[in-house]
Amino acid sequence: MVNEFLGNPNFNISAQTVSASCPSNIALIKYWGKYESQIPANPSISYTLNHCRTNTALEFVADEKFSVQTFLGGNEEKKFAEKIEKYFKDIEPFLPWILKGRYVIKTENTFPHSSGIASSASGFGAIAKCLMNLDEEFSGKLEKDFTLKKASFLARLGSGSACRSLYGGLVVWGETQEVPGSSDLFAVPYPTDEIHSVFKNFNDWVLLIHEGEKSVSSTVGHGLMKTNPYAERRFQEAHENFFSLREILKTGEISRFIRLVEHEALTLHAMMMMSEPAFILMKTGTLDVIHKIWNFRKETRLNLFFTLDAGANVHLLFPENSDADKIREFIVKELLQHTQNGGVVKDEMRF
Ligand code: DP6
Repeated sequence: MVNEFLGNPNFNISAQTVSASCPSNIALIKYWGKYESQIPANPSISYTLNHCRTNTALEFVADEKFSVQTFLGGNEEKKFAEKIEKYFKDIEPFLPWILKGRYVIKTENTFPHSSGIASSASGFGAIAKCLMNLDEEFSGKLEKDFTLKKASFLARLGSGSACRSLYGGLVVWGETQEVPGSSDLFAVPYPTDEIHSVFKNFNDWVLLIHEGEKSVSSTVGHGLMKTNPYAERRFQEAHENFFSLREILKTGEISRFIRLVEHEALTLHAMMMMSEPAFILMKTGTLDVIHKIWNFRKETRLNLFFTLDAGANVHLLFPENSDADKIREFIVKELLQHTQNGGVVKDEMRF
């Protein structure tokens, strides 16, 4: 399977600068737990965002000595460069020219750096795209679909969730019988003709409850699933949730969608609390917002709901329709006060 991604050993390198842009994504069914070589313990599905993205320029100069220098928003980031060096060494079998030069990588996020919004998905997505651009320069043009698939394969080896950012709309990573063609090695777009129109015009407003570094990284969190006594049940449930979600996406049953998505978010955080050692990434503000959303929904029957990533921020999800203004009004009046600095990132999923 991996063989199809092995790189062309006949390449012809020269100095090149390439650039690429890649959006972030937010998972609905979560990836939490993995095996060797970034193989996910269960299938996941995410919405690709329209605005939060990483723009990357990668300068390559052929050289005997391999080195990487990285800049984020104009500032040199040595730690990130070390991570990229290790990543490039890991993916050498798939891009045999990769260690034969010096790199300067300049990257910028369209969302605030301190926001706590994960930049690894859009970041590795953009780097993987840049690498595939270089690969085409050095080893020859490839079929467009294969280039994307290999970019997704390479992005996964940098950060699991990144492989889903290569496609727009709803994207699946991890083998599930519910989605033909799905794979543990790369992501595939969820067929748009099987998605009800209500899910194709959505908003995601990210409340920045806590800005800055989180106390436990995703990588450590994934590792703790290895000894979590509830892990196997959780992985099984993710499969079951795919079965339900497929039906929901087709029929447009939004109330079932809400239940499933919120359950997934809370399960992710429940897994953290059941880890040994336990950890909690939600803050008081996260819980306050969740309770307010539940009350609001009970009182108004309007479709405002939430998901969480591995942090304290709350992704507020709501369809764009004639009710959306009332929901926006409620968010501004009642929910913004729970953010650290009034921070909110307004994104959307339209496809
Ligand atoms: C909670 O993709 O950041 O956002 O593969 O170790 O880089 P690594 O982890 P990462 O994990 C993301 C976890 C999540 C859920 C998800 O995006 O599916």
